[in-house]
Amino acid sequence: MRVVFLSPVGQIGGAERVLLTLLDAWRTGSHAIEPLVLALSDGPLLAELRNRKVRCAVEPMPARLAKLGDSGGGLLATVANGLLAYPALMSFAAKLRQRLKEFAPDIIHANGLKAHLLASLAASPPCKVAWHLHDFVGFRRLAPLLLSRVAGHAAGAIAVSDAVAVDFLRAVPRVPVSVIPNAVNTARFCPGTGNGAWLDELAGMAEAPSGTVRVGLVATYALWKGHDLFIRAAARARASGPVRYFIIGGPIYATGAQRTREELKALARRSGLEVAFIPMQAEMPAVYRALDVVVHASTSPEPFGLVIAEAMACGRAVIAARSGGAKDLFHDGEDALGYPMGDEAALVLALERLIEFRSLRENLGTAAALAARQRFDPARQARDMAEWYAAVMESSGTVPERAGSRRSRPGCIPG
Ligand code: GLC
Repeated sequence: MRVVFLSPVGQIGGAERVLLTLLDAWRTGSHAIEPLVLALSDGPLLAELRNRKVRCAVEPMPARLAKLGDSGGGLLATVANGLLAYPALMSFAAKLRQRLKEFAPDIIHANGLKAHLLASLAASPPCKVAWHLHDFVGFRRLAPLLLSRVAGHAAGAIAVSDAVAVDFLRAVPRVPVSVIPNAVNTARFCPGTGNGAWLDELAGMAEAPSGTVRVGLVATYALWKGHDLFIRAAARARASGPVRYFIIGGPIYATGAQRTREELKALARRSGLEVAFIPMQAEMPAVYRALDVVVHASTSPEPFGLVIAEAMACGRAVIAARSGGAKDLFHDGEDALGYPMGDEAALVLALERLIEFRSLRENLGTAAALAARQRFDPARQARDMAEWYAAVMESSGTVPERAGSRRSRPGCIPG
């Protein structure tokens, strides 16, 4: 089966890491999937694909479209930008249609909101369009309207969590949705000795006193990832020993809905927190292992929370907001510490507990690594996705119910 993955970006964020994990699992499994990735901007994703010998190409999205985003800014500006971008959208969709014809895919797997829209406009029958939902559509302004307009062209949607499926069904009820939770490559993301000194060096910091506890937030710079909450809570947390704070990640979107490093630095300065900034690394497992505590601080419900799953798989002690899809990833108090989303005082408490008690960190980390191997099994996700494709191919219009771990019936809200 020929599948073209339409990636809205060539940068690597959560959705792109999920794609790479799927491709890896198919390579080692026995699924007859012939993938090709078409990215709508160049970036490190392409190098990762070439390393894996996955066929890939770039068809750069015009700047006006790339900048279009509806998770930040005012309503009027969003609508005005949407209208202004309409001609660019239609002519780019026509260009994509030609490009896609060369590949003659059976399925176009669209890996982000703009890709859902473009794939639906650009696909020519008998090729089917699948929307892989990594985001809450209903929270957006333009997305529900635009996706509802092209809903007739989508064979079905795959949500990364129950929470995302529920939200999607409310926003775009015409498209049947199945839940296939994300996976983590647990062969790479696994426990091991952490090298904190390497992280210090990356950050240009002096040698740390022994017993230093390293605490990090790993996230793109999207506004809702809670860097401000993390900074404020870290500045308030009391500790009897040395602690180092890290913010790992960077801006990956062309839209304005993200922070810059300068803004984050200014925030930290105002809160009186010393924090080191490190870009995402090719060797993310080593980053997690170098941290003693990994913090998730998103201030809007998290669609899935891949960072939580990856850090757990590496056997780290994780503090995570109980929200959206993230709350299904861990058992609070057993394999991670949960706190109510956005609750600064609760985050301060959780930080203080984990910084103080090494045994608590170790117990949570050991339980997390064990749980992660079962919960985030890449072979399971690859099999479920391949079965879902097969169901799409057999169906005449939209997809029937998928056989898989968690299901939702088309048009029904999963329980
Ligand atoms: C998006 C979501 C994140 C999820 C990732 C992979 O980045 O915001 O929650 O983990 O996609 O599905």
